[in-house]
Amino acid sequence: MIGKLNHVAIAVADLDKAVAVYRDTLGANVSAATDLPEHGVTTVFVELPNTKIELLRPLGENSPISRFLEKNADGGIHHVCYEVDDITAATEKLLSQGARVLGDGQPRIGAHGKPVLFLHPKDFCGTLVELEQV
Ligand code: CO
Repeated sequence: MIGKLNHVAIAVADLDKAVAVYRDTLGANVSAATDLPEHGVTTVFVELPNTKIELLRPLGENSPISRFLEKNADGGIHHVCYEVDDITAATEKLLSQGARVLGDGQPRIGAHGKPVLFLHPKDFCGTLVELEQV
């Protein structure tokens, strides 16, 4: 069902510092920062030859990554994103197998303008999983 690894997301408190690490220390191509108020994050994408790294910083009150950063002050891996061809079919299959979809269970438009949803970490080896329809 899942296809390519679309990105690995890393939550950070200091986005400028994280950009400097990836752009200057690691020598990667880094996008401009984009605010996504509906997701409560500011994102920067690091383009790698085979995948992307998504750097996430909290935006506004009640950001979904604020609690994560309280527990991980230096930042850390927040989620992995796998590509699927049909997010509705994937969701139905996962729900029928007892997996939990976060939120209202409906895909939302994610950072790339494509439908995404998130799966409960307890059902997926302790890792928050994002599915993105490509
Ligand atoms: Co993501």
